[in-house]
Amino acid sequence: MKINGKSYRTIWLNDDGWSVEIIDQTRLPHEFVTARLTTIEEAAVAIKTMQVRGAPLIGATAAYGLCLALREDASDEAMDAAIDHLNAQRPTAVNLRWALGEMRKSVQNLPREERVAAAYARAAQLCDGDVETCRMIGVHGLKLIEDIAAKKAPGEPVNVLTHCNAGWIACVDWGTATSPVYQAHDKGIAVHVWVDETRPRNQGASLTAFELGSHGIPHTIIVDNAGGHLMQHGRVDLVIVGTDRVTATGDVCNKIGTYLKALAANDTGVPFYVALPHSTIDWTIEDGFSIPIEERSSDEVLKMPGRLPDGTIVTVEIAAPGSGAGNPAFDVTPARLVTGLITERGICEASREGLKSLYPENA
Ligand code: MRU
Repeated sequence: MKINGKSYRTIWLNDDGWSVEIIDQTRLPHEFVTARLTTIEEAAVAIKTMQVRGAPLIGATAAYGLCLALREDASDEAMDAAIDHLNAQRPTAVNLRWALGEMRKSVQNLPREERVAAAYARAAQLCDGDVETCRMIGVHGLKLIEDIAAKKAPGEPVNVLTHCNAGWIACVDWGTATSPVYQAHDKGIAVHVWVDETRPRNQGASLTAFELGSHGIPHTIIVDNAGGHLMQHGRVDLVIVGTDRVTATGDVCNKIGTYLKALAANDTGVPFYVALPHSTIDWTIEDGFSIPIEERSSDEVLKMPGRLPDGTIVTVEIAAPGSGAGNPAFDVTPARLVTGLITERGICEASREGLKSLYPENA
């Protein structure tokens, strides 16, 4: 992705060859600021506080977090403790566990003195792999957009609705849900994106809109409750969302509110697709309702950050004093409401058979 004409990934190694640079997402869209991670604790805090977020990027940050931990102590005990600590930062996105599992496999049988170099090499591979995976998700998802565009008048945009941020900023590059959109736009197909604001953290308004705008993609931010109405009036051609965990049977866990979009899409006959890399499939879980759902601070619901006209960034209270708030961060969309899964290997039905057809080695 290009920001102000400069190409960026969301995570990269500093010129010193060991510390890690990230884009601090808590400052977007008001400020584009990078942050340097030098210890496992800084990586853990970045994941917990959502300086980095989005399933694939959480995994990539954890991988580098383990590298930072091994620099300090490459013993088995320290490695186990570091993996447990990183894993504990966010419970829902399975990419965190997956990336740490990959990292463990690549270093555990090596002598201590070889572990750090091997870990950095594997973390870099995981990041490069994520970029290529997301690019391929776009290649497959593009066909859906092309098919819809072919039925429209020349230049009439394909209207895609998305929830949360499953874009470049949530991955290492390209994004999952946004990759087909970027590829359609780059091919000259007219696309327009309805961006759910995604309360309470506003990933849609703050992040998806920011990255779509940076790439020149026409988009409109809508409140989370508007999608059903737009679908009823034929103003949404296709929904594409990301996911934090897909079960072996195709149930989809994603940002809170995704389920309601799937219900509305089902009722109105709008295709509802979920874009995901292989690292988001949890082959150990059959039933979406056994996925742990992160409960976040009530402050995220009761308070809202924003920018004043003089540029100062402030947080204001938006609720009646004394009221409490619940904040489940994810929900589960049953496979029966999902039209299809867009993966790096192609598009399949959201079912055990569908996933098995694309990933026979795992199923
Ligand atoms: O709480 P977040 O912002 O980490 O949640 C992110 C999402 O729900 C994304 O849609 C999901 O991780 C897919 S990212 C490609």
